[in-house]
Amino acid sequence: MQVRAYAKLNLFLEVGRKRKDGYHNLKTIFERINLSDKIILKSRLDQVINVRCSNSGVPEGAGNLCYKSAKLMQDSFKVERGADIKIIKNIPVGAGLGGGSSDAASVLMALNKLWSLKASQEKLIKLAKKVGADVPFFLHNASFAQGEGRGDAVRPLRLSRIPRLWHILVVPKIRVATPLIYRKWDSFNKSAKPFRSKGIGLGTARPPRNAGLSSQSHKLTRRESFDKMWALALKKRDFLLINRLLFNSLEPVTSVLYPSVNRVRRKLNSLGLGGVLMSGSGPAVFALLPSRKEAFSLSRKLAKNSKSWRVFLSRTE
Ligand code: C5P
Repeated sequence: MQVRAYAKLNLFLEVGRKRKDGYHNLKTIFERINLSDKIILKSRLDQVINVRCSNSGVPEGAGNLCYKSAKLMQDSFKVERGADIKIIKNIPVGAGLGGGSSDAASVLMALNKLWSLKASQEKLIKLAKKVGADVPFFLHNASFAQGEGRGDAVRPLRLSRIPRLWHILVVPKIRVATPLIYRKWDSFNKSAKPFRSKGIGLGTARPPRNAGLSSQSHKLTRRESFDKMWALALKKRDFLLINRLLFNSLEPVTSVLYPSVNRVRRKLNSLGLGGVLMSGSGPAVFALLPSRKEAFSLSRKLAKNSKSWRVFLSRTE
């Protein structure tokens, strides 16, 4: 069996309070994009789970999230078979694009079929939460979704028509460890004012400053209209509004530790691009564009003269 595992972008990511379980409450808007890994799975007659990856920097065996998914499925359903799992990696690793989480979600869904388990969506989501906070999003067949709690309480955005956005994705050739960024977020937040969020007012975050926003985005002060605002902006492909809503609490944190994030942002801004944001805990930075044509020519320019980052062209999946 062969399946695809798509990457994600966070169009909005506001970090709130640290919880008792060590995670942080957050509010996020996910977008699924067409950059993908390929996963090949074969059932085994014994109970061995083998995980191999085309990218030598990714842990194989028990250290891989795909192994964790397969083991959870095997244990929860008392499966007497095993699996050979091969990951063909295209999604950059440790970049904030959710590649490992997406691979793990695809393995949950694929083994459900391969082992004929007939597990419900609810059960798969329960298991996904145990694998990682970003995993449940990939179980929802949704191009755009809102995430709350640890990011694992997912609600697809209600859109009558799925808009297609184009992105130039610029990924500095470094790897970022997500737990480090959240630890730094905590320490910066205790002391320094500049790292305070200006999002929608979650936990430690400050309420938004609405100066200059349109009357529609003004409603953002009301938490319940947050997803409606995003749905409206996306449905109408209102890039002016989308660009104003783009936000990531973690971007200033990652930028201080890894200056290449700012270099990429400056480069994208110098090309006249407005809607630029880091995804997740970084270091991938994306720029939103309305058409493939514009995205394609700009991505070629960016790819030409840099040894320190990789450039991808992607669209909503
Ligand atoms: O769930 P996942 O393993 O992807 O999370 C990686 C790390 O990111 C966690 O161990 C935690 O340090 C941090 N994190 C967090 N709050 C979240 C999501 C992730 O603190 N909501």
